[in-house]
Amino acid sequence: MIDLIDKLQKTRDLKRDELFYLLSNFNHNTSEYIHEKAREVAQRYFGKKIYTRGLIEFTNYCKNDCFYCGIRYSNKNVDRYRLSIDSILDCCESGYHLGFRTFVLQGGEDLEYTDNDIVNLVSTIKSRFPDCAITLSIGEKSYDSYLAYFKSGADRFLLRHETATAQHYKKLHPHNLTLDRRKQCLQDLKSIGYQVGTGFMVGSPYQTIENLVEDLLFIKEITPQMIGIGPYIPHHDTPFANENAGSLELTLFLISVIRLMNPNALIPATTSLGTIDPNGREMGILAGANVVMPNLSPVNVRKKYELYDNKICTDEEAAECKVCLSNRINKIGYEIVVDRGDYVNI
Ligand code: 5AD
Ligand code: FES
Repeated sequence: MIDLIDKLQKTRDLKRDELFYLLSNFNHNTSEYIHEKAREVAQRYFGKKIYTRGLIEFTNYCKNDCFYCGIRYSNKNVDRYRLSIDSILDCCESGYHLGFRTFVLQGGEDLEYTDNDIVNLVSTIKSRFPDCAITLSIGEKSYDSYLAYFKSGADRFLLRHETATAQHYKKLHPHNLTLDRRKQCLQDLKSIGYQVGTGFMVGSPYQTIENLVEDLLFIKEITPQMIGIGPYIPHHDTPFANENAGSLELTLFLISVIRLMNPNALIPATTSLGTIDPNGREMGILAGANVVMPNLSPVNVRKKYELYDNKICTDEEAAECKVCLSNRINKIGYEIVVDRGDYVNI
């Protein structure tokens, strides 16, 4: 086990059966070992600096019906909202003063927004905050739409592949959504020149170790700049309401594996990790993550963007989360930096 971890660190790659063995047989001691190795690698590239991204959840309307997601189309109990452009700019303004230099515009796949609306939104933010990076996280679009957003100033795009196994993808999504389409979108984003983020949920219903191995190999193959993983957490108003949440230990182990396979990737300690354990984000950093993404959305909409139950930070103002997170990060010997935190190809 230890030799496999050493080999992973050295070669940044393992064979299918070796990854399978690692994920099937890890225990407390081997976890400690891989976390230490992953921390070393992260610190070699980023020091003890943690990058922040200000997350703005600007619409919770969604045309899709993913079985795991709280804001799925069929959930009639969601109080739907869209933030006005002025309100989004206010979020950026206060975020800027708190030291954020990346804004992530995330939303459901909301048909109300035309490409022009997104282009206007991006170019307005970009002209107001020229030293900031803009990340979009608005789902599957055509090549031309992605290109238009990029030309208007969007720098990065987050689109998790969710699972790299087609049969598993079908169990998580209605049939109008396919893994092939998702992969095509990721290819399009890459070829246009975005810094691309992908990722998956750990412990999503029906997920097997084989599926996770495919996820790791898929990520390695497309070499994204950002890799976001977090535990699956049930939402009470979805078809998967009674499924179990993903495991903290497996998520942390996978963060370390991903760090060793993709040494310079930007890897967030996600909100879902902080939701299944009060110290989840700190443990994520100590397992090799180097990014946090606190919420800048207005407090009055926070609870309405509920992808899963008991999501943290829904009552706190952006400034409170910033202080809270800084303290948490300082406590484990790291610091938040004011920086766009671009991917560096080294
Ligand atoms: N639990 C954990 N993560 C979830 N996401 C959506 N629903 C859930 C859930 N119930 C994740 C998906 C999506 C990202 C925005 O949030 O991976 O890509
Ligand atoms: Fe939001 Fe701690 S980070 S309350």
